[in-house]
Amino acid sequence: MHIVHVAVEMAPIAKVGGLGDVVTSLSRAVQDMNHNVDIILPKYDCLKYNNVKDLQFHKSYSWGGTEIKVWLGRLFWVGCIYGRANDAERFGFFCHAALEFLLQSGFHPDIIHCHDWSSAPVSWLFKEHYVHYGLSKARVVFTIHNLEFGANLIGKAMEYSDKATTVSPTYSQEVSRHPCVAPHLYKFHGILNELTQTFGTHIMISSFLAKLINAIADFLYFGNVVEGKRASKEVLQKKVGLKVADMPLVGIITRLTHQKGIHLIKHAIWRTLERNGQVVLLGSAPDPRIQNEFVHLANQLHSTHNDRARLCLTYDEPLSHLIYAGADFILVPSIFEPCGLTQLTAMRYGSIPTVRKTGGLYDTVFDVDHDKERAEANGLEPNGFNFDGADAPGVDYALDRALSAWYDGREWFNSCANELWSKIGLGTDLPWITWSSTMLLENE
Ligand code: ADP
Ligand code: GLC
Repeated sequence: MHIVHVAVEMAPIAKVGGLGDVVTSLSRAVQDMNHNVDIILPKYDCLKYNNVKDLQFHKSYSWGGTEIKVWLGRLFWVGCIYGRANDAERFGFFCHAALEFLLQSGFHPDIIHCHDWSSAPVSWLFKEHYVHYGLSKARVVFTIHNLEFGANLIGKAMEYSDKATTVSPTYSQEVSRHPCVAPHLYKFHGILNELTQTFGTHIMISSFLAKLINAIADFLYFGNVVEGKRASKEVLQKKVGLKVADMPLVGIITRLTHQKGIHLIKHAIWRTLERNGQVVLLGSAPDPRIQNEFVHLANQLHSTHNDRARLCLTYDEPLSHLIYAGADFILVPSIFEPCGLTQLTAMRYGSIPTVRKTGGLYDTVFDVDHDKERAEANGLEPNGFNFDGADAPGVDYALDRALSAWYDGREWFNSCANELWSKIGLGTDLPWITWSSTMLLENE
């Protein structure tokens, strides 16, 4: 089959969060099943052209009185995708231009797959303007990654798409009564995201840290997991300036937004410190007020717990992977989480996920004390800690058990890390594959 994705994020060149990871991972996975996959992505003004290799003008066509230019190139990671006043207009234009490109280039895809509010217009533009032309055999699949944004656009795309999906079974149930979703349940499916080895690829292109992490990855892969994690932790502690010490380390890697459980994150930081652990948070807040709150907290921790807490308030892909590798636990206390990729990535690094039971977090993390049967039903072993409430006692319930496991049950803890590594881990695929050729508009 020939599948065309129309999306506004694609890791590693244009990633804000999990959408970018999934567009890339899903495409590669489907390609590995011998399907032909293309991805159409906007050529953002903010791409850093000195980071672009072999950028070449491919063709231009005219549509609606505008000349549309198509470029091919090999690109690296870039931010600043959302947040302009005219986002809806820009992405709406992009969706139309993408369909026009398919038509004018003589493409005959079997599936056109669009994602979230940002490429939602593809579904109705296609049905209203393109289905009668050369693209007639295509069917439209629409995936909800997050219903929080652009509900009206998502509702309309649900109506016009042939099939609709979201990124975990539990999230599909959680949103099933939402007015955008409820009328379309007959064609709606919750399919869990998975990661391919593409995560981490852009580490290949960052210099010093890349080599360092690669060395650790080799060690973890070929050597002893416990030793490898100890080495990773030491590199992490040195890198962020924490005391190099044998104590439990909790990592948090997140967008700092309401969705991610801001108050629970703050509480968990203090609770970990109380329990004599270390915390590294890597996060960036699109809302300046939330960013300021964390700057304030960072300053406070700097004076009280400088050797045990570090808040890195930025977006830093290589550092995120060092945290995944060096932490004992990755905490994800989201209020809601359609799927969540951090807990999945954590498990690949033998870091134990400690999560709130919601959406995809519920579907992927099975509590060592409570979820044996549920894990078995999924063909897995229990692999982490989880909690229900959206309050401090909830977090404490999971975090305390996690930290106690580290202090008291070293044997269990180590075997759990080993288990994660061997079963859910990398298998024969190291994540550090070379990024072959990532294109803005691939058409071969
Ligand atoms: P969401 O898409 O809702 O932000 P996901 O868990 O699906 O949540 O995906 C988040 C992705 O972004 C993960 O790959 C995670 O490692 C990455 N990420 C989040 N925050 C940062 C950050 N500050 N620096 C680097 N990577 C980050
Ligand atoms: C969204 C969701 C996240 C999911 C990601 C990829 O950003 O917030 O839970 O993992 O999309 O599907």
